[in-house]
Amino acid sequence: MEVFSKRFSKHEDELKWLYMELYNDMDGYIQLISNMKQYYQNRRQDLKEIDNARVKDPSWYKKNDLMGMMLYIDNFAKNINGVKEKINYLEKNNINYIHLMPFLDTPSNQAKSDGGYAVSNFRKVRPDLGTMEDLEELSKVCHEKGISLCMDFVMNHTSEEHEWAQKALAGEKEFQDYYFFFDDFTIPAEYEKTVPQVFPTTAPGNFTYLENLDKYVMTCFYPYQWDLNYRNPVVFNEMMFNFLYLANQGMDIIRIDAVPYIWKTLGTPCRNLPQVHTIVRLMRMICEIVCPSVLLLGEVVMEPAKVVPYFGTVEKPECHMLYNVTTMATTWHTVATKDTRLLRQQLDTVAALPHDYTFLNYLRCHDDIGWGLDYPTLAKDGIGEPEHKQFLNDYFRGYIFNSTSRGELYNEDPVTRDARFCATTASMCGIEAALETKDPAELELAIQQHIMLHAYMFMQSGIPVLYSGDEIGQINDNDYKLNPGKVEDSRYIHRGEMNWYNASQIDVEGTVQNKIFTRLHQLEDLRKAHPAFITEGDAWTLDTWDKAILCMGKYYNKEKIIGVFNFSAQEKTAYLDDVYDGPYTDMITGEVTDIKQVKLEPYGFRYYVIQF
Ligand code: GLC
Repeated sequence: MEVFSKRFSKHEDELKWLYMELYNDMDGYIQLISNMKQYYQNRRQDLKEIDNARVKDPSWYKKNDLMGMMLYIDNFAKNINGVKEKINYLEKNNINYIHLMPFLDTPSNQAKSDGGYAVSNFRKVRPDLGTMEDLEELSKVCHEKGISLCMDFVMNHTSEEHEWAQKALAGEKEFQDYYFFFDDFTIPAEYEKTVPQVFPTTAPGNFTYLENLDKYVMTCFYPYQWDLNYRNPVVFNEMMFNFLYLANQGMDIIRIDAVPYIWKTLGTPCRNLPQVHTIVRLMRMICEIVCPSVLLLGEVVMEPAKVVPYFGTVEKPECHMLYNVTTMATTWHTVATKDTRLLRQQLDTVAALPHDYTFLNYLRCHDDIGWGLDYPTLAKDGIGEPEHKQFLNDYFRGYIFNSTSRGELYNEDPVTRDARFCATTASMCGIEAALETKDPAELELAIQQHIMLHAYMFMQSGIPVLYSGDEIGQINDNDYKLNPGKVEDSRYIHRGEMNWYNASQIDVEGTVQNKIFTRLHQLEDLRKAHPAFITEGDAWTLDTWDKAILCMGKYYNKEKIIGVFNFSAQEKTAYLDDVYDGPYTDMITGEVTDIKQVKLEPYGFRYYVIQF
């Protein structure tokens, strides 16, 4: 307990202060601390050793050696034990950070599970995926191999089938107070005036009428996901105990789902309220006391000004890592427009942030692309938001003459035509279309674009995370349309089952899978071998005199890397007037060269390095 006491005393004042400020409940505070002690005591010895090692090396996740992959356990390997058997495949792909998409118990009716984001039991694995023991075992195997595990902590809401919700439905007031219950629509109507919609078309409104109780419950996401009431200290405490329970199963990274939404105040948009930051700060301290090896990954799908505060401050940090969501959306905008100016501005904005902010970089994830771009900047070029979203959605559905992308809209508003977009990276790059038309030149071009985008993503500061299947160019899966529980949710188009036959082709020369796998592998190896890729290194962009070409620089410890990326299907030359040194070494061919003028093939790219 000495270790616990030492860590606790470091945070005690602030922890107590913030808890009392939020809840003014001494009994609740005492219960929290005594449970934290209990979870510390129950924590496995091997996890405590990882805690100690990471406390000594707090930048362990900020180097250039982490490569993540997010995957659905069932799609990837049927169940948790299956994942264990497929670890070799993940290692072959250089993966040492696995994000297991939601696997906790959830309604078996897929129309009420939100892909597992409607949790019905925080302490039970979905039975068809395995058990908590299987998870624990997987974490041990991963740790032996130096692989970190990530899971979701869906803290804003529970499924309507969660025990608390069931008790609330049975009329127990105590459990109704875990949520937001209203006798009539008077107060909900007030909320509706200021709270925007998450799913305006598939789940309009922020409240659901419960017929058998004749009451309304707050449901900001889907009607079957009831928002938890964090004004109630019992909810905070119970959820923190669930959090610690999951951390103790051997999780290294916990993704706090939909975190901006967790605090509600009438008359506000109920997003990013100051109390959200208090709660995240409390979670960070609870982690640092009980399980300091665990990292908090915040899911904040908002514009940059709203995202960055979730890092907290140097003295009072909140999340360890955040998604680089605007950069992701801007990347696809660049793919469609072949104009890198907005992306360049976005990359420069991120690069100007303190270097210890760690972003998670990605091209695709399990969700739709929301087209959250910097529209005020686009407006200066006369580009309006609704028209541009329409253009992007048309482009990526392949409706525009030079587009070979394929995919589906998500949550289209029939009146405003506002919509988000779903598809896999490969389908958005034209691999699906080229396989259909059997055009070898088109296919090469699409593969090249897919690889170029990864090369560019690997160069961003932070942790690159691949979406399972992207390592072999997996295309859209339209089978979800045959499943009544999935058909309404087009996000399932990019949540297809892993095609293991295709995966077996990575070793067969000349196949699509082999081309993508081999080249990504090469880039991953380079990333690990060169310190300039480190998160904490300097990052900047350079002029190329062609808006279709992006040029990025990275510097760390006497090493400089210049990356040049052609976002167009034409041959291009980048004029790098601002590169004052040389010669550089082409990191892929080994050629030593001056880089004032760089000729690039369609969707071509180069990585150059110089050591001082
Ligand atoms: C997050 C998840 C998304 C889910 C939502 C509600 O945004 O990424 O898939 O629908 O939270 O839990």
